[in-house]
Amino acid sequence: MRISEILAVALLQASAAWSSPLESNAIEARSNRPHHPIKPHHLGKPFPQSPDRTKSCTVKANGNGKDDSQNILKAIKDCNNGGHVIFPKDKNFTIGTALDLTFLKHIDLDIQGTIQFTNDTDYWQKNGFYQTYQNATTFFQLGGQDVNVYGGGTLDGNGQVWYDLYAKDIYILRPILFGVIGLQGGSIEDLKLRYSPQWYNFIANSTDVVYSNIDIAGGSVSSNVAKNTDGWDTYRSDNIVIQNSHINNGDDCVSFKPNSTNILVQNLWCNGSHGISVGSLGQYVGEVDYVKNVYVYNVSMSNASDGARIKVWPGSASALSGDLQGGGGSGAVQNITYDTMVLSNVDYAIEITQCYGQKNITLCNEYPSNLTISDITIKNFSGTTSKTYDPLIGYLVCSSPTVCSDINIENVNVKSPSGTNLYTCGSITGIESQVNCTTNGTKGGNS
Ligand SMILES: *[C@@H]1O[C@H](CO)[C@@H](O)[C@H](O)[C@H]1NC(C)=O
Ligand SMILES: *[C@@H]1O[C@H](CO)[C@@H](O)[C@H](O)[C@H]1NC(C)=O
Ligand SMILES: *[C@@H]1O[C@H](CO)[C@@H](O)[C@H](O)[C@H]1NC(C)=O
Ligand SMILES: *[C@@H]1O[C@H](CO)[C@@H](O)[C@H](O)[C@H]1NC(C)=O
Ligand SMILES: *[C@@H]1O[C@H](CO)[C@@H](O)[C@H](O)[C@H]1NC(C)=O
Ligand SMILES: *[C@@H]1O[C@H](CO)[C@@H](O)[C@H](O)[C@H]1NC(C)=O
Ligand SMILES: *[C@@H]1O[C@H](CO)[C@@H](O)[C@H](O)[C@H]1NC(C)=O
Ligand SMILES: *[C@@H]1O[C@H](CO)[C@@H](O)[C@H](O)[C@H]1NC(C)=O
Ligand SMILES: *[C@@H]1O[C@H](CO)[C@@H](O)[C@H](O)[C@H]1NC(C)=O
Ligand SMILES: *[C@@H]1O[C@H](CO)[C@@H](O)[C@H](O)[C@H]1NC(C)=O
Ligand SMILES: *[C@@H]1O[C@H](CO)[C@@H](O)[C@H](O)[C@H]1NC(C)=O
Ligand SMILES: *[C@@H]1O[C@H](CO)[C@@H](O)[C@H](O)[C@H]1NC(C)=O
Repeated sequence: MRISEILAVALLQASAAWSSPLESNAIEARSNRPHHPIKPHHLGKPFPQSPDRTKSCTVKANGNGKDDSQNILKAIKDCNNGGHVIFPKDKNFTIGTALDLTFLKHIDLDIQGTIQFTNDTDYWQKNGFYQTYQNATTFFQLGGQDVNVYGGGTLDGNGQVWYDLYAKDIYILRPILFGVIGLQGGSIEDLKLRYSPQWYNFIANSTDVVYSNIDIAGGSVSSNVAKNTDGWDTYRSDNIVIQNSHINNGDDCVSFKPNSTNILVQNLWCNGSHGISVGSLGQYVGEVDYVKNVYVYNVSMSNASDGARIKVWPGSASALSGDLQGGGGSGAVQNITYDTMVLSNVDYAIEITQCYGQKNITLCNEYPSNLTISDITIKNFSGTTSKTYDPLIGYLVCSSPTVCSDINIENVNVKSPSGTNLYTCGSITGIESQVNCTTNGTKGGNS
């Protein structure tokens, strides 16, 4: 730091200290509950009402990185059933204890300050909430009924220590930053999510939840990349909206996992991701996975591996990596629409695969997927792909023509850097009349 910068910082700190008595009223101020309308598209079903809250509780910050979990739990318990919990602006909170918040009812969490999770990887691996699906764990789990979270503050997962540990051992359990487990009615709005060890948001066993104006960013400063940092994963959930958000991440921007139904995603800016994905599905033998009635509208997708993507495991066991294996499950992907996507430097504009985790297409076709794909519309795409698969811009490969039907690709005006618009096509009846298929066989398709 140069002298002038040191002076500037000192002046800022002095003015902050001087003005703090004046700000103490502002510190206790409640944020108004945001009202982000669900638009331009909406799901048919109305969302439940959320009555005004009648009392306030303020969370005390211990400071200096001391665990604030008990302060948080106390304020939440004091204000449950009709209250408004304030995490004051300009305060830093530390969470070093796994918090089970599945008892919430009629409560607003007004996070204006910053919450950081501790870097104690041993503690979190032992005490994070194990969600079973894909060995997912969470720092906390928030659920119950009628819960609104907002305030303009930040949740920071302290991810660097996890990115570095994962590079040494892929079997560690990296917590998800924001776990919504069993929430019936609620909203998560106006928050910044930073440095998640793994996925940023997991929403499971939930209904009637809206996410709006979420800003996601993070990444690693070491040579160990921040992996599997999906923006959202929906699971066993119905009537969910994700909209008006800005996502800088390194895996799926949004991913619809097993039993995601009636989901609307709109007005997203995604950078660096693996696209908006259905799946992966069919991972577990004996399980039935459905993803139905999904509408994805108006997405800007840059520097990504995919734009629209449907990934299904084949009928026989396959391995994508040591910690991601599967195949043989059954179910259906049905009534999915991707409408309006602007692409820039995206490897595949569209990728449909039923050979997820299986690079040998001959072997994939020998055991067709037990999971059908039908009633898919992909329309109004523009922009350019990356050089990665040029001259190809997409990959449309099912494991048998009998398991994929009614796939419609309309008004997709995407070109590769060399000006082509070719797709790898396989086992999808009638696809040749909709896109330009190459006869060069199969290439890529498993990222
Ligand atoms: C909160 O943490 C940030 C980042 O570490 C720091 O710059 C700021 O001074 C802290 N604020 C308080 C009130 O401790
Ligand atoms: C973990 O956090 C503590 C307290 O902030 C810090 O002293 C320590 O250096 C951190 N450890 C790692 C590995 O980053
Ligand atoms: C969801 O609910 C089911 C059935 O009650 C339960 O087995 C499961 O543990 C819950 N959580 C998740 C993440 O699936
Ligand atoms: C959890 O991870 C272990 C080790 O990779 C794997 O064998 C197991 O199948 C995983 N469980 C789930 C539910 O994915
Ligand atoms: C599309 O999304 C962007 C944000 O990424 C927003 O600025 C724009 O207004 C949206 N367009 C429509 C038609 O909703
Ligand atoms: C988008 O992501 C790339 C890395 O994939 C990064 O270099 C770039 O700065 C990001 N752009 C913005 C505007 O954040
Ligand atoms: C999905 O829903 C179906 C039908 O309700 C159920 O049979 C199946 O077990 C569910 N699968 C998962 C993974 O929850
Ligand atoms: C298909 O999904 C959309 C939501 O994207 C929904 O509005 C529509 O009713 C669904 N169609 C059927 C036949 O369920
Ligand atoms: C792909 O699978 C087929 C059928 O099992 C097998 O004959 C072939 O050798 C495999 N190819 C490679 C490259 O492993
Ligand atoms: C799944 O597919 C395999 C291979 O195609 C088949 O042998 C098996 O019976 C199917 N299982 C179910 C539950 O449909
Ligand atoms: C196929 O490519 C030709 C030549 O670039 C183009 O005129 C035509 O519109 C393409 N067809 C489709 C369905 O994109
Ligand atoms: C087809 O394969 C040949 C030989 O590998 C290659 O030179 C050509 O560029 C390929 N064309 C397309 C459209 O992929």
